Amino acid sequence: MRLSDLDRIIAIECMAFSAPWSRMAFQGELGDNQFAHYIVALTDGMIVGYAGMWMIIDEAHITTIAVSPDYQGQGIGEMVMRQLIGLAVTLGCLRMTLEVRVSNYVAQKLYEKLGFVSYGLRPGYYSDNNEDALIMWLELVDFVNLP
Ligand SMILES: CC(C)(COP(=O)(O)OP(=O)(O)OC[C@H]1O[C@@H](n2cnc3c(N)ncnc32)[C@H](O)[C@@H]1OP(=O)(O)O)[C@@H](O)C(=O)NCCC(=O)NCCS
Repeated sequence: MRLSDLDRIIAIECMAFSAPWSRMAFQGELGDNQFAHYIVALTDGMIVGYAGMWMIIDEAHITTIAVSPDYQGQGIGEMVMRQLIGLAVTLGCLRMTLEVRVSNYVAQKLYEKLGFVSYGLRPGYYSDNNEDALIMWLELVDFVNLP
Protein backbone atom coordinates (compact mmCIF):
# COMPACT_ATOMS: atom_id res chain seq x y z
CA MET A 1 0.00 0.00 0.00
CA ARG A 2 1.28 3.47 -0.94
CA LEU A 3 0.17 6.98 0.03
CA SER A 4 -1.08 7.38 -3.56
CA ASP A 5 -3.49 4.46 -2.95
CA LEU A 6 -5.33 6.25 -0.12
CA ASP A 7 -8.22 7.76 -2.15
CA ARG A 8 -9.31 4.25 -3.16
CA ILE A 9 -8.49 2.74 0.26
CA ILE A 10 -10.62 5.35 2.06
CA ALA A 11 -13.50 4.73 -0.37
CA ILE A 12 -13.43 0.99 0.40
CA GLU A 13 -12.90 1.65 4.12
CA CYS A 14 -16.07 3.78 4.27
CA MET A 15 -18.11 1.09 2.50
CA ALA A 16 -16.71 -1.82 4.54
CA PHE A 17 -16.73 -0.50 8.12
CA SER A 18 -19.25 1.19 10.42
CA ALA A 19 -16.37 3.06 12.11
CA PRO A 20 -13.86 3.67 9.27
CA TRP A 21 -10.25 4.73 9.83
CA SER A 22 -9.41 8.29 8.79
CA ARG A 23 -6.97 9.19 6.02
CA MET A 24 -4.66 10.49 8.75
CA ALA A 25 -4.70 7.08 10.44
CA PHE A 26 -3.56 5.38 7.22
CA GLN A 27 -0.98 8.12 6.57
CA GLY A 28 0.46 7.49 10.03
CA GLU A 29 0.62 3.75 9.42
CA LEU A 30 2.37 4.13 6.05
CA GLY A 31 4.67 7.00 7.01
CA ASP A 32 5.55 6.81 10.67
CA ASN A 33 5.06 3.26 11.89
CA GLN A 34 8.19 1.17 11.40
CA PHE A 35 6.36 -1.93 12.68
CA ALA A 36 3.56 -1.68 10.09
CA HIS A 37 3.14 -3.67 6.87
CA TYR A 38 0.19 -2.96 4.54
CA ILE A 39 -0.67 -4.74 1.29
CA VAL A 40 -3.31 -4.30 -1.41
CA ALA A 41 -5.12 -6.71 -3.74
CA LEU A 42 -5.50 -5.64 -7.37
CA THR A 43 -8.02 -6.71 -10.01
CA ASP A 44 -7.33 -5.30 -13.49
CA GLY A 45 -5.03 -2.75 -11.86
CA MET A 46 -7.70 -1.51 -9.42
CA ILE A 47 -7.44 -1.90 -5.65
CA VAL A 48 -10.25 -4.19 -4.45
CA GLY A 49 -8.95 -5.12 -1.00
CA TYR A 50 -6.22 -4.50 1.53
CA ALA A 51 -4.90 -5.62 4.88
CA GLY A 52 -2.27 -4.66 7.38
CA MET A 53 -0.38 -5.86 10.40
CA TRP A 54 2.11 -4.74 13.01
CA MET A 55 5.13 -6.88 13.74
CA ILE A 56 5.82 -6.85 17.47
CA ILE A 57 8.93 -8.95 18.16
CA ASP A 58 7.80 -12.40 16.94
CA GLU A 59 4.05 -11.68 16.87
CA ALA A 60 2.05 -10.30 13.95
CA HIS A 61 -1.01 -8.25 14.95
CA ILE A 62 -3.56 -7.85 12.17
CA THR A 63 -4.81 -4.26 12.24
CA THR A 64 -7.31 -4.30 9.38
CA ILE A 65 -8.60 -6.24 6.40
CA ALA A 66 -11.31 -5.28 3.96
CA VAL A 67 -12.56 -6.17 0.50
CA SER A 68 -14.69 -3.79 -1.55
CA PRO A 69 -18.31 -4.94 -1.12
CA ASP A 70 -18.79 -5.54 -4.87
CA TYR A 71 -15.80 -7.94 -4.85
CA GLN A 72 -16.60 -9.86 -1.66
CA GLY A 73 -17.25 -13.59 -1.77
CA GLN A 74 -14.73 -14.20 -4.58
CA GLY A 75 -11.76 -15.43 -2.54
CA ILE A 76 -9.99 -12.05 -2.35
CA GLY A 77 -10.15 -11.74 1.45
CA GLU A 78 -8.69 -15.21 1.85
CA MET A 79 -5.93 -14.43 -0.68
CA VAL A 80 -5.03 -11.19 1.13
CA MET A 81 -4.91 -13.00 4.48
CA ARG A 82 -2.71 -15.76 3.02
CA GLN A 83 -0.33 -13.13 1.61
CA LEU A 84 -0.12 -11.40 4.99
CA ILE A 85 0.46 -14.71 6.78
CA GLY A 86 3.18 -15.59 4.26
CA LEU A 87 4.82 -12.20 4.85
CA ALA A 88 4.67 -12.70 8.63
CA VAL A 89 6.33 -16.13 8.29
CA THR A 90 9.02 -14.66 6.02
CA LEU A 91 9.69 -11.90 8.56
CA GLY A 92 10.17 -14.49 11.31
CA CYS A 93 6.87 -14.23 13.21
CA LEU A 94 5.81 -17.27 15.22
CA ARG A 95 2.16 -16.38 15.79
CA MET A 96 -0.51 -14.02 14.58
CA THR A 97 -3.40 -12.39 16.41
CA LEU A 98 -6.41 -10.21 15.68
CA GLU A 99 -9.61 -8.85 17.18
CA VAL A 100 -12.97 -9.27 15.47
CA ARG A 101 -16.45 -8.08 16.43
CA VAL A 102 -18.48 -10.88 18.02
CA SER A 103 -21.21 -10.09 15.44
CA ASN A 104 -18.85 -10.37 12.43
CA TYR A 105 -19.69 -13.93 11.46
CA VAL A 106 -18.22 -13.69 7.93
CA ALA A 107 -14.78 -12.52 9.10
CA GLN A 108 -14.73 -15.13 11.87
CA LYS A 109 -15.44 -17.87 9.30
CA LEU A 110 -12.54 -16.61 7.17
CA TYR A 111 -10.14 -16.63 10.12
CA GLU A 112 -11.31 -20.07 11.29
CA LYS A 113 -10.79 -21.42 7.77
CA LEU A 114 -7.17 -20.29 7.99
CA GLY A 115 -6.70 -21.97 11.37
CA PHE A 116 -7.25 -19.07 13.78
CA VAL A 117 -8.65 -20.13 17.17
CA SER A 118 -10.63 -17.95 19.64
CA TYR A 119 -8.93 -17.32 22.98
CA GLY A 120 -11.31 -15.00 24.81
CA LEU A 121 -13.05 -11.66 24.67
CA ARG A 122 -12.16 -7.99 25.10
CA PRO A 123 -15.39 -6.61 26.59
CA GLY A 124 -16.63 -3.33 25.05
CA TYR A 125 -13.55 -3.12 22.77
CA TYR A 126 -15.38 -1.26 19.94
CA SER A 127 -16.15 2.26 21.10
CA ASP A 128 -18.82 3.02 18.43
CA ASN A 129 -21.31 0.53 19.91
CA ASN A 130 -19.46 -0.92 22.91
CA GLU A 131 -19.37 -4.33 21.18
CA ASP A 132 -17.09 -7.07 22.51
CA ALA A 133 -14.10 -8.28 20.48
CA LEU A 134 -13.24 -11.91 20.03
CA ILE A 135 -9.46 -12.41 20.30
CA MET A 136 -8.11 -14.96 17.83
CA TRP A 137 -4.65 -16.48 17.43
CA LEU A 138 -2.90 -18.47 14.74
CA GLU A 139 0.28 -20.44 15.39
CA LEU A 140 2.26 -19.84 12.21
CA VAL A 141 4.06 -23.18 12.48
CA ASP A 142 0.60 -24.77 12.13
CA PHE A 143 -0.18 -22.56 9.13
CA VAL A 144 2.95 -23.63 7.30
CA ASN A 145 1.72 -27.23 7.66
CA LEU A 146 -1.79 -26.51 6.29
CA PRO A 147 -2.69 -28.16 2.93
C1 LIG B 1 -14.26 -10.31 5.94
C2 LIG B 1 -13.93 -10.05 4.47
C3 LIG B 1 -12.53 -9.40 4.39
C4 LIG B 1 -13.91 -11.38 3.71
O1 LIG B 1 -13.46 -11.14 2.39
P1 LIG B 1 -14.09 -11.92 1.13
O2 LIG B 1 -13.24 -11.61 -0.04
O3 LIG B 1 -15.54 -11.59 1.02
O4 LIG B 1 -13.94 -13.46 1.59
P2 LIG B 1 -13.58 -14.69 0.66
O5 LIG B 1 -14.42 -14.66 -0.57
O6 LIG B 1 -12.09 -14.73 0.46
O7 LIG B 1 -14.05 -15.91 1.56
C5 LIG B 1 -13.10 -16.65 2.34
C6 LIG B 1 -13.83 -17.37 3.43
O8 LIG B 1 -14.52 -16.44 4.28
C7 LIG B 1 -15.76 -17.02 4.72
N1 LIG B 1 -16.87 -16.29 4.12
C8 LIG B 1 -16.83 -15.37 3.13
N2 LIG B 1 -18.08 -14.90 2.88
C9 LIG B 1 -18.90 -15.56 3.73
C10 LIG B 1 -20.31 -15.50 3.98
N3 LIG B 1 -21.11 -14.65 3.28
N4 LIG B 1 -20.83 -16.28 4.94
C11 LIG B 1 -20.05 -17.11 5.66
N5 LIG B 1 -18.69 -17.21 5.48
C12 LIG B 1 -18.15 -16.44 4.52
C13 LIG B 1 -15.75 -18.45 4.22
O9 LIG B 1 -15.07 -19.23 5.17
C14 LIG B 1 -14.93 -18.32 2.95
O10 LIG B 1 -14.37 -19.54 2.55
P3 LIG B 1 -15.21 -20.47 1.52
O11 LIG B 1 -15.42 -19.65 0.29
O12 LIG B 1 -14.32 -21.66 1.29
O13 LIG B 1 -16.50 -20.79 2.21
C15 LIG B 1 -14.99 -9.13 3.80
O14 LIG B 1 -16.27 -9.69 4.02
C16 LIG B 1 -15.00 -7.70 4.31
O15 LIG B 1 -14.26 -6.84 3.81
N6 LIG B 1 -15.85 -7.39 5.30
C17 LIG B 1 -15.98 -6.03 5.81
C18 LIG B 1 -14.78 -5.61 6.61
C19 LIG B 1 -14.54 -6.57 7.78
O16 LIG B 1 -15.45 -7.00 8.45
N7 LIG B 1 -13.24 -6.86 8.01
C20 LIG B 1 -12.83 -7.74 9.09
C21 LIG B 1 -12.57 -6.95 10.31
S1 LIG B 1 -12.05 -7.99 11.66
